[in-house]
Amino acid sequence: MKRRKKERFLIRRMYFPQVKDLPVINKLMNQLSGKKRRLALMKAHQVYVPAFVDEAMYIYVAQDRKFKTEPMVGIAAIYFVQTLNGLKSGIEDVVVDKKYRGLGLGKKLVRALIGAAKRKKAKYIDLTSNPKRVEANALYQKLGFKKRETNVYRLELAS
Ligand SMILES: CC(C)(COP(=O)(O)OP(=O)(O)OC[C@H]1O[C@@H](n2cnc3c(N)ncnc32)[C@H](O)[C@@H]1OP(=O)(O)O)[C@@H](O)C(=O)NCCC(=O)NCCS
Repeated sequence: MKRRKKERFLIRRMYFPQVKDLPVINKLMNQLSGKKRRLALMKAHQVYVPAFVDEAMYIYVAQDRKFKTEPMVGIAAIYFVQTLNGLKSGIEDVVVDKKYRGLGLGKKLVRALIGAAKRKKAKYIDLTSNPKRVEANALYQKLGFKKRETNVYRLELAS
């Protein structure tokens, strides 16, 4: 019997981050925002853990099995919201570590999010992506997302 070769990258839902994951999430979030905000462990815990424990938020990660520690090299999230018009969902925080781009991980992560939304029977998945994010826009279109003509508004609130 032929044994199937284990894939190098593991894509899985992460229910709760370990302490060692927090600086990695911080690094990925910095690559997403272009900012260099290094959060101390306690602060990172306060900022990131609530997203993982929120039942309406599903967070998927890509891990590199080449290394014993299986480091996290990508992350992507989808939230669900029950409205009067059915279950809606939206994609957030898609980022693959710079050193790992172009290997198909972004596609695998977003496919995992689409799978989760289908299993939950969401009506659709929304997302926004700045046109300057050329790779991301190409990725979403490749996976079937269609550009909508609508106005996107935001009211900034002091945090
Ligand atoms: C967008 C991002 C997640 C893609 O991750 P990735 O693992 O490199 O993407 P993949 O290797 O899975 O490529 C998927 C598709 O994206 C597009 N793409 C990837 N790299 C690209 C590049 N350099 N130029 C143009 N398109 C590109 C292609 O359509 C590609 O499909 P193909 O390989 O069949 O041609 C990654 O570039 C990233 O983290 N960017 C910074 C953060 C960001 O912009 N996040 C999106 C926020 S909305």
